[in-house]
Amino acid sequence: MRVAVTGGAGYIGSHAVAELLTLGHQVTVIDDLSAGHAEAVPAATRFVRADIGDLVAMTTALDHHDAIIHFAGLLSVGGSMKDPRSYFQTNFIKGLVLLDAAKAAGVSRFIFSSTCATYGVPRGPLNEDHPKEPVNPYGVSKRAFEQVLEAYARIGQVRAIALRYFNAAGARRDGSLGEDHTHEEHLIPLAIDAAAGRRGPLTIYGDDYETPDGTCLRDYIHVDDLARAHVLALDAVERTEAPFTPINLGTGRGTSVREVIQSVERVTGTKVPHSVGPRRPGDPPALVAAPQRSLAILGFEPQVASIDEIVETAWKWRKAHPQGYSSER
Ligand SMILES: NC(=O)c1ccc[n+]([C@@H]2O[C@H](COP(=O)([O-])OP(=O)(O)OC[C@H]3O[C@@H](n4cnc5c(N)ncnc54)[C@H](O)[C@@H]3O)[C@@H](O)[C@H]2O)c1
Repeated sequence: MRVAVTGGAGYIGSHAVAELLTLGHQVTVIDDLSAGHAEAVPAATRFVRADIGDLVAMTTALDHHDAIIHFAGLLSVGGSMKDPRSYFQTNFIKGLVLLDAAKAAGVSRFIFSSTCATYGVPRGPLNEDHPKEPVNPYGVSKRAFEQVLEAYARIGQVRAIALRYFNAAGARRDGSLGEDHTHEEHLIPLAIDAAAGRRGPLTIYGDDYETPDGTCLRDYIHVDDLARAHVLALDAVERTEAPFTPINLGTGRGTSVREVIQSVERVTGTKVPHSVGPRRPGDPPALVAAPQRSLAILGFEPQVASIDEIVETAWKWRKAHPQGYSSER
């Protein structure tokens, strides 16, 4: 298949690109490198450095493709509280431009990177039918784009799957790709850097939640598993009952902040300096996927089972790339 991957130079997108190439697909990476890394884009792809909001560039880039996997976007919850407009501009308005280009180029299969932030505060099991009441502009921007996809799908313009990821984590098992965000907000890389002395002590935001150890529970899914799920979605999108289908990608297991810290300590053999701070507004005590639909529709089951395995891959990447991709320049 000829697949265009927006955001293919970023963390999750680069892992999906690697998986697609392994399976023999032809890949075009579309990325403006605002947050991604040229070093993460394999020479075996066609690389188009462009903004997804550029209609002419997108229409040209998408010509003769069978499908789009759309990762490009802004993804910091905190960033979206400070500058919501940029989030709506990139995640929503530029997404509309990409859909215009897809129509012009005749590409109708569309896989979208969505998020569990579309649900808001859990009010029961987090399956795909849970109410969608996002509590921050990031979640609203992703939910709004899902709704556009659903509307376009109903009138036959696209067939789409929105993959709602829980917490993407880890790095490619062969050590070639990993997480390198400029303003890192994800717990595992932050804990690894704290253990390695590359940053100050980690802050645990609240240890008085109604969870087994008082800290927040999240569902960590390995990035190679996420990548595989996207490839499965490319096929599934042609045979789903509805033309638009949202699917959770998680493991169904919750791991607490303290458990992640303990895992990083086991894997690195070093203590993670940390302190306990106040709760962060809008942080639900637990965000854990009900993952049944991903098995039923995609035939997807995560292969990386334990938090230690996830942390081991992240640690392997960090040891080999202490400055992230810039170590390779
Ligand atoms: N990382 C997670 O845990 C997580 C969880 C849920 C959902 N998601 C979603 O997954 C997607 C990828 O996340 P990630 O962690 O790989 O992020 P990332 O920042 O590493 O990757 C995003 C990529 O998109 C590119 N990009 C951004 N704006 C662009 C634009 N206007 N035009 C072209 N390229 C542009 C960036 O340069 C970057 O390479 C995002 O849409 C995010 O919302 C991520």
